[in-house]
Amino acid sequence: MERSCVGILLVLIAALASIHIVHAQDQEGFISLDCGLPTYELSPYIEISSGVSFSSDEKFIQSGNSGRTLEMPKGYSKQYKTLRYFPNGTRNCYNLSVDKGRKYLIRTSFFYGNYDGLDIKPIFDLYLGPNLWATIDLETLVDGTRRDILHIPTSNSLQICLVKSGTTTPLISTLELRPMGNGSYITESGSLELQYWYYLNKTGSRIRYSSDVYDRIWVSFFEKEWTQISTSLEVDNSNNYVPPEDALKNAATPTNASAPLTIAWISENANEQYYLYSHFAEIQELHTNETREFNIVWNGKLYYGPVIPDKLKLTTIQSRSAETCKGGKCSFQLIRTNRSTLPPLLNAFEVYTVIQFPLSETDESDVAAVKDIEATYGLSRLNWQGDPCVPQQLSWDGLNCTSTDVSIPPRITSLNLSSCGLNGPIAVSIQNLTQLENLDLSNNNLTGWLPEFLGNMESLSVINLSGNQLNGTIPKALQREGLKLFVEGNPRLCVSDPCTKPLHKKKVLVPIVSSVASAVFVTAVLVLFLVLRKRHSTAEEGLHLPPRMAMVNGKGGFGFVYHGTVNGLEVAVKVLSQLSTQGYKQFKAEVDLLLRVHHKNLVSLVGYCYEVDHLALVYEFLPNGNLKQHLAGKGDRSAITWGNRLRIAMEAALGLEYLHTGCTPTMVHRDVKTTNILLDEHFRAKLADFGLSKSFQVGEGPHESTVVAGTPGYLDPEYYHSGRLGEKSDVYSFGMVLLEMITNQRVISEKSHITEWVAYKLNRGDISGIMDPNLCGGYDTNSAWRALELAMSCADPHSANRPTMSHVIIEIKECLACENSRVLKNQDLETQETIMRLETSVVPGAR
Ligand SMILES: *[C@@H]1O[C@H](CO)[C@@H](O)[C@H](O)[C@H]1NC(C)=O
Ligand SMILES: *[C@@H]1O[C@H](CO)[C@@H](O)[C@H](O)[C@H]1NC(C)=O
Ligand SMILES: *[C@@H]1O[C@H](CO)[C@@H](O)[C@H](O)[C@H]1NC(C)=O
Ligand SMILES: *[C@@H]1O[C@H](CO)[C@@H](O)[C@H](O)[C@H]1NC(C)=O
Ligand SMILES: *[C@@H]1O[C@H](CO)[C@@H](O)[C@H](O)[C@H]1NC(C)=O
Ligand SMILES: *[C@@H]1O[C@H](CO)[C@@H](O)[C@H](O)[C@H]1NC(C)=O
Ligand SMILES: *[C@@H]1O[C@H](CO)[C@@H](O)[C@H](O)[C@H]1NC(C)=O
Ligand SMILES: *[C@@H]1O[C@H](CO)[C@@H](O)[C@H](O)[C@H]1NC(C)=O
Ligand SMILES: *[C@@H]1O[C@H](CO)[C@@H](O)[C@H](O)[C@H]1NC(C)=O
Ligand SMILES: *[C@@H]1O[C@H](CO)[C@@H](O)[C@H](O)[C@H]1NC(C)=O
Ligand SMILES: *[C@@H]1O[C@H](CO)[C@@H](O)[C@H](O)[C@H]1NC(C)=O
Ligand SMILES: *[C@@H]1O[C@H](CO)[C@@H](O)[C@H](O)[C@H]1NC(C)=O
Repeated sequence: MERSCVGILLVLIAALASIHIVHAQDQEGFISLDCGLPTYELSPYIEISSGVSFSSDEKFIQSGNSGRTLEMPKGYSKQYKTLRYFPNGTRNCYNLSVDKGRKYLIRTSFFYGNYDGLDIKPIFDLYLGPNLWATIDLETLVDGTRRDILHIPTSNSLQICLVKSGTTTPLISTLELRPMGNGSYITESGSLELQYWYYLNKTGSRIRYSSDVYDRIWVSFFEKEWTQISTSLEVDNSNNYVPPEDALKNAATPTNASAPLTIAWISENANEQYYLYSHFAEIQELHTNETREFNIVWNGKLYYGPVIPDKLKLTTIQSRSAETCKGGKCSFQLIRTNRSTLPPLLNAFEVYTVIQFPLSETDESDVAAVKDIEATYGLSRLNWQGDPCVPQQLSWDGLNCTSTDVSIPPRITSLNLSSCGLNGPIAVSIQNLTQLENLDLSNNNLTGWLPEFLGNMESLSVINLSGNQLNGTIPKALQREGLKLFVEGNPRLCVSDPCTKPLHKKKVLVPIVSSVASAVFVTAVLVLFLVLRKRHSTAEEGLHLPPRMAMVNGKGGFGFVYHGTVNGLEVAVKVLSQLSTQGYKQFKAEVDLLLRVHHKNLVSLVGYCYEVDHLALVYEFLPNGNLKQHLAGKGDRSAITWGNRLRIAMEAALGLEYLHTGCTPTMVHRDVKTTNILLDEHFRAKLADFGLSKSFQVGEGPHESTVVAGTPGYLDPEYYHSGRLGEKSDVYSFGMVLLEMITNQRVISEKSHITEWVAYKLNRGDISGIMDPNLCGGYDTNSAWRALELAMSCADPHSANRPTMSHVIIEIKECLACENSRVLKNQDLETQETIMRLETSVVPGAR
């Protein structure tokens, strides 16, 4: 009869959103998350069988994607329909607000349901803060699994983390938190992981909230040697444990009245430590000449007794300390005493194992400070989740911590946010990192005064603030002994008031590097000599070229690169402090030729200036950096997807093909590499630094034009030996770019060249080991393999065997098509709707 009302209730809930608010009030302190539920779907909603109000998890986690199961056995409740999965990052965490020191029941559940259509069931780890809680193996537990634990958080936020342990993608279906009473489930040490919540009844569905105020999920359990007794009278369930009254209204007694009541099981791990809680209430009407009295025997030893259950009133027998089962064989027995006329009885029964969480969380004020710094600068780092310091292998990028004793909360000792695009003043919360020894905020865009508090942080011994926009004077406190301060590259910072003298030669300071000096030079030179394609600039037009960074991009690069504006146009100015011995005429002829090269995948040269032996080239400015930075995920750059890598490779190839076939005379780039593939505001790729091959070298210092030039690792070996340069030399270098894109390995390491590394892996059949782990398997395998083959053919030592760029383009197009169809297919599966089943609620088997 109750069943038939369900549908009506659901309609009512949907129509009257206020109902669930009324209902939700008694679930005080409950957190019930239906993971992956999009907020645009009804959220919160009431789960029919329990009346628990579930809501979307979006507010509690910043990462992961929402998935929808494709295959769900009948009877699974709505929470298992959606899930959150984590293709990116090793550790992804929920951050829940809790009361420190209070006991909580924490429940997580996991159901794969082929949400990705790949039918690959994942295996991954579940962490509670810094500690491993469980390994979730859905390959074995195909129907899903649930984990319940009784735990006391040690701080006011609780981190529940899913950690990738292999190649498969972690996921989670539900996450629930229930605050518990104080006086129950007290352990000598450790937390309690659920084994069984049993009530003794032959049949019966699960009992949970609201029958159980703590929302434990009780299942019925019965052995064939037993007889069931029941009552319809009220049973007083009040004590610290408050098992549900419905669970106490039934009990089991041995059918053979003189036999014991026995529950036995095998422990997976012989050293497992157990806590037991057994609940008794006399639910039979006893005659005056009848007694029920029994002893509790645990693993063959008297554990407690005698027990005489009170009439219609709960008695709970609790473990006071942990017990192990000899040889892994556990047995719990109730044995009637000599004077008892009735067999023993048992109403409900709980079994837990002890789980230790030995690693301390990072000092709470350090965590608060570093979170505040993250928020101040609007950083959003995938890796900055969970505990900052522990476990060490998952600690946050850019941090180092003390790591002395696992039981002492770690402290943050160094913070490196160099080149992270930080804007604004130096964050005040840095002073809350009281154990900080090393602070690196170099190469950002920090403004304002240098704060005095940095000088008062006693443990701080190295501060690097170079390459920012700080102004004012350096406080005295920062000029103390034992503190190394680096501030070069802050043009408006001075040592003392009044701010007149340039910043030099103070012993605590490292003198400003030559970048400022050359900036002055550049400004002067450019004002005089800038030649613009559209119109000639004059001194009055005001060219402003503040030094942006001294970006000496390794061997083969230009000197300094400046970012500036000319007539409102954003430009990048590359300055060569030394030029080859070639004359101005030849240089001009060549640059004039370059000024005419236009292709959407080539960085345009918009002007240049030349004086005696100094040269500056003015290029269009591309705001999104170069491909290498993106592959490395450097600074605020995130690692890019396979599809985007292919697209970028394609665009660069188009630019290169244009140089080879579309220009007259044809051009050889000579320095194709990932740092020369730049990205514009729409992340379209453009090739930079081409064509300047004859009249001067782009390498450091003067060279003869006949000298072989290029970047080590990318350099065509045939060209290197013969000195004959051709288009196929660019194809070779392009092959290196492809390999870098596929593997994210360095082209040259101390040990080997990237082609050797790939060949070695291929020989060993270590296919997945070749691909960039940052891709997290997010690529079409066919597409990846074609790209790898293509790259290796470009890398052929004999130029004649290498493909042309036109051929390369055709191949990349096909790789891209394979990848795109994979992506489309996944999207299809994700959005595909299947009918929701709401009839009944059954949780996947509790292991
Ligand atoms: C995570 O990976 C997906 C593709 O797998 C991508 O679309 C998304 O941008 C990535 N997110 C982050 C933050 O890297
Ligand atoms: C977790 O959330 C709380 C606010 O509820 C916040 O103060 C804390 O910094 C967060 N912790 C982490 C590690 O994100
Ligand atoms: C549990 O104990 C803490 C202090 O130890 C107290 O603040 C809190 O009110 C108690 N909660 C309950 C439900 O008794
Ligand atoms: C216990 O079993 C009896 C019948 O065996 C059934 O009527 C009753 O509903 C069950 N109790 C619960 C709580 O399911
Ligand atoms: C009942 O249990 C007692 C004690 O375990 C045993 O000796 C006896 O044989 C049992 N009776 C039957 C009928 O199984
Ligand atoms: C107890 O007394 C009742 C009658 O009041 C009788 O039927 C029953 O057999 C007695 N039981 C025992 C164990 O003596
Ligand atoms: C119970 O009775 C048996 C024999 O009938 C006896 O050996 C035993 O000591 C008695 N136990 C108690 C606790 O009286
Ligand atoms: C830093 O410490 C001060 C004083 O102890 C405190 O008031 C402030 O809230 C802390 N700031 C952060 C972000 O934790
Ligand atoms: C952290 O320590 C490692 C090893 O000692 C070191 O290489 C790294 O530079 C340190 N990081 C920071 C941010 O200081
Ligand atoms: C900080 O990180 C940058 C690279 O991101 C590195 O060059 C620098 O050495 C690091 N600083 C310290 C102190 O480890
Ligand atoms: C640096 O900060 C200044 C002032 O906040 C801002 O105008 C400028 O655009 C910033 N530059 C970059 C590269 O973020
Ligand atoms: C320093 O810069 C801030 C803004 O970045 C500005 O308000 C202040 O006037 C500057 N102070 C000096 C002395 O230049």
